[in-house]
Amino acid sequence: MASPLDVQRIRKDFPILGRTVRGDRPLVYLDSAATSQKPTAVLDAERAYYENSNAAVHRGAHQLAEEATDAYESARAAIARFVGGRPEDIVFTKNATEGLNLAAYAFSNATAKASHGHAVDPRFVLTEKDSVVITEMEHHANLIPWQELCAKTGAQLRWIGLTDDGRLDLDQLSLIDDTTKVVSVVHQSNILGTVNPVRRVMDRAHEVGAIGVVDACQSIPHMPVDVEDLGADLVTWSGHKMLGPTGIGLLWGRAEILDAMPPFLTGGSMIETVHMDHSTFAPPPQRFEAGVPMVAQSVGLEAAVRYLEDVGMESVAQHEHDITEYALAGLQELPGVRIIGPTDAVDRGSAISFVVDGIHPHDVGQLLDDRGVAVRVGHHCAWPTCRRYNVPATTRLSSYIYNDRSDIDAALAGIRAAQEFFGVL
Ligand code: ALA
Repeated sequence: MASPLDVQRIRKDFPILGRTVRGDRPLVYLDSAATSQKPTAVLDAERAYYENSNAAVHRGAHQLAEEATDAYESARAAIARFVGGRPEDIVFTKNATEGLNLAAYAFSNATAKASHGHAVDPRFVLTEKDSVVITEMEHHANLIPWQELCAKTGAQLRWIGLTDDGRLDLDQLSLIDDTTKVVSVVHQSNILGTVNPVRRVMDRAHEVGAIGVVDACQSIPHMPVDVEDLGADLVTWSGHKMLGPTGIGLLWGRAEILDAMPPFLTGGSMIETVHMDHSTFAPPPQRFEAGVPMVAQSVGLEAAVRYLEDVGMESVAQHEHDITEYALAGLQELPGVRIIGPTDAVDRGSAISFVVDGIHPHDVGQLLDDRGVAVRVGHHCAWPTCRRYNVPATTRLSSYIYNDRSDIDAALAGIRAAQEFFGVL
């Protein structure tokens, strides 16, 4: 199906896409899985906030404080609507990494408190008899917090392996068993592009009474996602990959789960009462938002959400499907190029990793950059996934609403030129 988007019109909303790089090369930005570019509406919203209403939220009796608080809570409501959740179940974090750490620390903090006789929800208490299940395609942000949790509690870390074609090996769902207290899985892989059947994994988690966590960083910006439909207890993602500013991420949680979780960061704004020797904490989401939060970023993110709503998330997904099919076909026509991840566009997003015989992925990236084509190279914060496919690193193209087939053509031409340069054709 052809793209439903008017990409040339969309591109006009993104000032950065008009610049040149490496001399006079027009910028071809194919690194949106790392971070997306920002439309003027987002830049204007942040600037207008600072020019007119800047104040610390949820404190202060003056008009600016009131306006800033309204802006912050309006952003929460807009983001909740975008993902089909309730505002009170949305927590603002610094980024998705913080959201995942917040989840992992709920377990280690509860476990530490329980060992000192404090009353905590037993679902968050881990011992050597328990297990945590993730997958072999996790970003380090959804791996290392769980490694640390297991090191602190003695619980066992297990991971669902991958098939040769870049999918989860669902035969290994049996790793989720009666010992499992938490299952955390990526919705769409940042390195392979695979879209996982997270509902099935979450249902399995719930069959054994485990808490289910989904890393939706690469899915919520790119397709319609309803957090309830994922079947998870906690879902985290970032603002900067969905046209919003850096410095803001989101954690959605089922009300009952958020309510049972101990805080991660403590201090001002997250309290109910404070004494010199103990304190009690505010209900969610405030319990998880210590300190003066990222108000300007939330305002920018609301503008990003409205922009994506105007484009329409169904159209975003269709557009990306079209460009992904086109890129996969083009890459597979090039001799000596191997895609790491699914080679067809079924249950697959637009992040496409590949290796080129005889050329290191970093060199491919550098030669593309010489032509103005921006891609990511390296292990993409998914080092174990690279090991699984026996590659030291990959080169990755990732598109968004402002890319069209001509950007893919520029990348393909650059790869061919790199092959000629290195004499590997
Ligand atoms: N997680 C981001 C990426 O995949 C930074 O590039």
